[in-house]
Parts: sequence; C-alpha cells; structure tokens
Amino acid sequence: MKVLLTGGAGYIGSHTCIELLALGHDVIIVDNFSNSKPEALNRIREISGRDFKFYEADAADPEAMDRIFAENEIDCIIHFAGLKAVGESCHIPLRYYRNNLDSTITLLEAMEKHGVNNIVFSSSATVYGVPERVPLTEDMPAYKTSSPYGWTKIMSEQIFRDACAANPNLSVVLLRYFNPIGAHESGRIGEDPNGIPNNLMPYISQVAIGKLPKLGVFGNDYPTPDGTCVRDYIHVVDLAKGHAKAIEYAAAHKGAEAINLGTGIGYSVLDIVNSFMKVNDIDLPYEIQGRRDGDVPECYADPSKARELLGWVAEKGIEDMCRDSWNWQKNNPKGLD
Ligand code: NAD
Ligand code: UFG
Repeated sequence: MKVLLTGGAGYIGSHTCIELLALGHDVIIVDNFSNSKPEALNRIREISGRDFKFYEADAADPEAMDRIFAENEIDCIIHFAGLKAVGESCHIPLRYYRNNLDSTITLLEAMEKHGVNNIVFSSSATVYGVPERVPLTEDMPAYKTSSPYGWTKIMSEQIFRDACAANPNLSVVLLRYFNPIGAHESGRIGEDPNGIPNNLMPYISQVAIGKLPKLGVFGNDYPTPDGTCVRDYIHVVDLAKGHAKAIEYAAAHKGAEAINLGTGIGYSVLDIVNSFMKVNDIDLPYEIQGRRDGDVPECYADPSKARELLGWVAEKGIEDMCRDSWNWQKNNPKGLD
C-alpha cells in the first residue's frame, strides 16, 4: 500500500514508518517539524535501508494537502500530526484546537476530493476521562476529558464518525493509545521531548543520564496496590505494529471503529522505577511528592477488541520498555540534536 503519514517524523510516526517499510509498503511523510527534527528522517532511512517521499508541510494547509494528494496515489493515511502536551493545551487551547481540528478536517476534505477512503487516526485513552471502571472498553463513554488536548481527540473522533455517516465509502480506525514508551531496539530513534519532560519515562531517562537530579513520584496515597498511579505502558514498537494491522483493517472495512491499543496490564509508577533500575543496573534517585492535578488513579485497556478485529496483541513487556528507553537515551544524550 502507499501510506501517507502525517506527523511521521515524530515519536510514534517514525517507529510506525519503519514497520511499514519493513513490510514492503511505500510511505510518504508530511511533517512541519513543530515537535520533531529532520534528523529523524535520516535515522528512519538508516534503520530501514529504504527511502520514502517527504514533504515539509502543515497538515492543516489545504493547498499543500491538495498538492500532495494530487501528486501521489494514496491508499491510506495515518494521521499522527497533532500537538500533544496536556498541560500546555490548557495554556494555549486555541492553538491546540486550530492545529488538531484543522488538520483532521483538511485531511478529510482532501480525501473526499481525491477519492481516498481509508484513514487511521491517533486518538488517546484520554478520551475516557476519569474511568468508571478498569479495564477500559471501547463502548465506555468517551466525552469527559479534562484538557483541551483531550477535547481535540474527542472532537476529531466525532468529526470522523460524522464523515463516515455521510459517506458510506469511508473507513476510519480510531486508535486509542494508552501510554507509549520505549524505543526502537537499534537505539537510533526514540522519544525526544523539548525542554523538561512531562511524561514519566522521558523524565526517568533524563534522571538516569544525569540531566535532571531526581524523579518526583506524584502521590503515593492512591487506592492502588503501592499507592502510586497505575497505567497501561505499551512499547512503541508494539504500537507501530498495531498501525500496520490497522491499515489492513481499514482497507477491508467501512465505517468508523474505535480500538484500544494497550497491553491490558497496569503498572504503577514505582513498578516502572524499580524495573528501570533492575533491568539497566542503574540507580535512580526519586522522592515521593504530592499528587499531580488531573491524574486518575488507574487507567488500563481491555485490549480484546484489537485482538479480535486486528489480530494484534502487544508482545513486549516492561523489561523491554525500560531497556530500550535507556538504550535510546544513553546513546543519544542530546536526543536528535
Ligand atoms: P510527536 O509530537 O512526537 O509527533 C507528532 C508529529 O506531528 C511531530 O513530528 C510534529 O512535528 C508533527 N506535527 C504536529 N502538528 C503538525 C501539523 N499541523 N502538520 C504537520 N505536522 C505536524 O507525538 P507522538 O507521541 O508521536 O504522537 C503522535 C500522535 O499520537 C499525536 O496525535 C498524539 O496526540 C497521539 N497520542 C500520543 C500519545 C503519547 O503519549 N505519545 C498518547 C496518545 C495519543
Ligand atoms: N509521573 C510521576 N512523575 C513524573 C511524571 C509522571 O510520578 O515526573 C506519574 C504521573 O503522575 C502518572 C504516571 O507517572 O501517574 C504517568 O504519567 P505520564 O505523564 O507519563 O502519562 P499520563 O498517563 O498522565 O498521560 C499519558 C499521555 C497523554 C495521554 C494519556 C492517556 O501523556 O497524552 O496518557 O491516558 F492523553
């Protein structure tokens, strides 16, 4: 298949690109480098041994998208492009709505004009808000998120559903990711956050490399086995493989389908900290701090729909995630700079 990846230079997009190239698909990447670097593209070529087409463009720019769709016979799109920092989205909500919603609408318009019917969208477990129960199933209500970022995912999902209702030829897979961590086993690509990381694994890695003095563990008085929050961490390479399955599914079905991509296993913050220290034989200074606003005690997926519809299950475990995250960080202490 010829697959257009918006945001393909980013963390999840770059890993997915490698999986798709390895499976023999042709890839076209569109990215504006708002949260990534051109070096990511060199690394993808290096790891895969294959080339691909690249456009530096904004996925929300109708003229640029029109040109890209006109110049390429696209079979399927994977729409990764988006701003993704939960906290930042509370400070600059309009930028988040403009970027994340405009890109979704622009792509759907270009698809309609050029007769492209299949798209896979990067949604998030954040659409479930505060879970009523765990594990989370796709039929649970998804309209209670607490950040503008989360609303852009809920609203994009709704836009896709409405577009499907109006066009019976359209096929949309809404992939709801849980907590992606880890990196490609080569250690050549991985997560490269700007500034001080907000998320747990990049923070841990930067403490381990000595860039940050110690990890703050946000709360140990939650109703969980060790008192720290529980999440469904999923290796980014497993996630990438889920996308390869999702494009096949999109090509064979019609309508909109939301599918969780998680392992179904919940690990606490301290599970991750202890596993990182053990697997990598490294000390990780940390201290218990107060709770972080907006954190839910427990969030993990029921991944059975992904198994049934996509034939996909996560294969990598917590040790792989901790080893590969550290391998990436220690080999690239300055990220892709
Ligand atoms: P990322 O920031 O590493 O990658 C996103 C890429 O999109 C970047 O390369 C950025 O430059 C590009 N981009 C952003 N806006 C663009 C635009 N308008 N036009 C062109 N390119 C644009 O993020 P990621 O972790 O790879 O996430 C990919 C997608 O998955 C995002 O939509 C994100 O919201 C979603 N998601 C991520 C997580 C996570 O924890 N990483 C969890 C759930 C969902
Ligand atoms: N945590 C710490 N210290 C840190 C960073 C995080 O203790 O320095 C804790 C958090 O309190 C939380 C857990 O580690 O309990 C995971 O936090 P992350 O920030 O890594 O991830 P979240 O679960 O908060 O959010 C992630 C993505 C969102 C996405 C959400 C969906 O960052 O984009 O999962 O569930 F929306």
